[in-house]
Amino acid sequence: MKYTISKELFQTLAGEVEVLKKAHKAVILAHYYQRPEIQDIADFVGDSLQLSQQAATTDAEVIVFCGVHFMAESAAILSPDKVVILPEAQAGCPMADMVDAEGLRAYKKRVPGVQVVCYVNTSAEVKAESDICCTSANAVKVLESLKGKDILFIPDENLGRYAANILDKSLQFWPGYCKTHDRLTKEDILKARREHPLAKVIVHPECRVDVCQEADYIGSTAGLIAYAQNSEKQEFIVGTESGILHRLNQVCPTKEFYLASERLVCPNMKLTTLAKVRDALTTLSPRITVEDKIRVRAKEALDRMLAL
Ligand code: 13P
Ligand code: SF4
Repeated sequence: MKYTISKELFQTLAGEVEVLKKAHKAVILAHYYQRPEIQDIADFVGDSLQLSQQAATTDAEVIVFCGVHFMAESAAILSPDKVVILPEAQAGCPMADMVDAEGLRAYKKRVPGVQVVCYVNTSAEVKAESDICCTSANAVKVLESLKGKDILFIPDENLGRYAANILDKSLQFWPGYCKTHDRLTKEDILKARREHPLAKVIVHPECRVDVCQEADYIGSTAGLIAYAQNSEKQEFIVGTESGILHRLNQVCPTKEFYLASERLVCPNMKLTTLAKVRDALTTLSPRITVEDKIRVRAKEALDRMLAL
């Protein structure tokens, strides 16, 4: 995938970022959905689980999080002594906004004793009201670890249904979804299969249930990359956000990847630019913090997940 800025501008900005990063003892973490030039200057690129593991263990003093708000917030929860920066303050996640702490508290009142599994795509306040977090990489493992019958999965209904189906477990679901993955339809997959009959279909579990049913493999972003790397196949139809193509092409240069729909672009993930990363490292802002009262309880939910 090509950079969204010229090579010359990339070199200038990347040079400035490198100098500032050293001066502030900073580490740059980026999600696979980020612009190609952001992925290429990052110290670590990963899925949500890998990024929270990095945030929890890094010895850098400053974490520059190139992703969306809940990711930087998770880093601030896990590493409260570090300065956590989100270069673009407006980079949120519409799915995370589909559940709030007040609504969740009301649900728990209606269903006393319910255990709440929350996808990391949630606010710190919602995590603080939850028993355990999960990501798309470990949702099955997290659900497997829970005893008891009353389990509520928030907020991604598609991911919850995917994991529950594997375990043949009955769950309660929150009606949330990813607006980006929801744009991919079963018809898109069938059309892509007709155009590329030899390709394997690989999709993210945030996709609609009928899209997942058409897939050869379902996994987190890191899972999809590992599958393509280890597969003997040469062609893949990719059902997740477009940014992943950059890494897929880097690690599998001789294989062909086709985005299942041109609509698979998360506008929030694309808000972070290299100039904003440079500015954020210059001013050490916008800074993400979480008040202690919420942070300590949210950390318990994240720690339970990381302990698995
Ligand atoms: P993963 O990278 O953990 O698969 O998550 C995808 C996602 O939706 C990030 O916003
Ligand atoms: Fe949120 Fe979906 Fe964008 Fe991920 S891809 S940040 S879940 S809207």
